[in-house]
Amino acid sequence: MTRSNEIVKVGLGKRSYDIVIAPGSLHRMGAYLQGLGLSGKVGVVTNPALARLYGASLKQALVKAGFTCHLISIPEGERTKTLRWASSIVDELVKHRFERRSALVALGGGVIGDITGFAASMYLRGIPFIQVATTLVAQVDSSVGGKTGVNHPSGKNLIGAFYQPALVVSDTNTLRTLPKREWLAGMAEVIKYGVIADRRFFAFLEDRMEHILDMRETDVQTVVKRCCEIKAKVVAKDERESGLRRILNYGHTIGHALEALSRYRKYIHGEAVAIGMVHEAHLAHHLELCSAAAVDRQCALIRRTGLPERMPAHNFLKFWRAMGHDKKVAGGTIYCVLPRSIGRVQVLPLEPRVVRRWHAQFS
Ligand SMILES: NC(=O)c1ccc[n+]([C@@H]2O[C@H](COP(=O)([O-])OP(=O)(O)OC[C@H]3O[C@@H](n4cnc5c(N)ncnc54)[C@H](O)[C@@H]3O)[C@@H](O)[C@H]2O)c1
Ligand SMILES: [Zn+2]
Repeated sequence: MTRSNEIVKVGLGKRSYDIVIAPGSLHRMGAYLQGLGLSGKVGVVTNPALARLYGASLKQALVKAGFTCHLISIPEGERTKTLRWASSIVDELVKHRFERRSALVALGGGVIGDITGFAASMYLRGIPFIQVATTLVAQVDSSVGGKTGVNHPSGKNLIGAFYQPALVVSDTNTLRTLPKREWLAGMAEVIKYGVIADRRFFAFLEDRMEHILDMRETDVQTVVKRCCEIKAKVVAKDERESGLRRILNYGHTIGHALEALSRYRKYIHGEAVAIGMVHEAHLAHHLELCSAAAVDRQCALIRRTGLPERMPAHNFLKFWRAMGHDKKVAGGTIYCVLPRSIGRVQVLPLEPRVVRRWHAQFS
């Protein structure tokens, strides 16, 4: 049985769906899929490590409920997020004669979720797609909102579709096997939600961070649920990122620049976002948009998690150009999400001269 307090609803009219957030929910997948009116074939896309950890349990839950389960394993890592691998998933569906009512399940983090959702959107112009999110990033961010896709050699996430899942299942127990670095990377996105939308949630994080980092079950569930509620609300108002959804990019203008400047080698995404948030907050203070106290609270919380916060030295022009490659550029102007206070942000265009003056302290 799933309790109503374990569900977050994403309200998108006909494309609405539930996110189930509960320890052990992976074992109830058979019943969930039956509840969606599905039967017959299910493809489970995952990677070898996750297949070893959770493949058998998931398969057992599905088979017990009468489904025929095909495991589709692709290599681990961001480098697999390509058209070629999406196409190889489709090949498997063709081979096993999947039909419109057959379903595709992603078992994994954001990489598996993004590519599986994209494959599901392409095959027969769209078959039901379900995500079992196993990283903190996937549970609080990538599984919510329907952005699916793959990378192109010239840029991340350049190919994709908005395609909403029929259901997301976040079994918080799976987070226990996640490498610590990946767990902390997700924590950067968690803190982001507090800053952009919810000062009470931010205060909760300040109050409970050590317990959360220790993975206390009720705290972890509260965190995942609140983040999903916030993202779901934003996405429901702006499904295709024409306005409000941009606030989710807080910390990402500088974060993406740092990732690109280090050729995606030095930081994993959440680490770059943590540094990005610290410095976008500093920049907001420099622009007299927010108080020094608001900046200090963010820095202090980020420091307690152990995420990095120091900005590496970069030549300003390179830095500015890297910020410009971010998707928030509209008509040559660089927009940045800047905090006004904890829980409230504003999207503003950046003046190169002003940013250069601020940036001088890091070069
Ligand atoms: N669609 C969106 O809106 C959205 C949002 C944010 C990020 N993303 C995308 O998500 C991807 C990053 O996702 P991620 O941070 O989840 O990383 P990931 O999917 O690469 O997973 C990180 C690592 O953890 C392993 N792993 C996953 N779950 C595990 C578990 N429970 N136990 C042990 N190991 C586990 C994976 O095999 C992988 O090695 C990027 O491609 C990014 O573009 C998409
Ligand atoms: Zn992010």
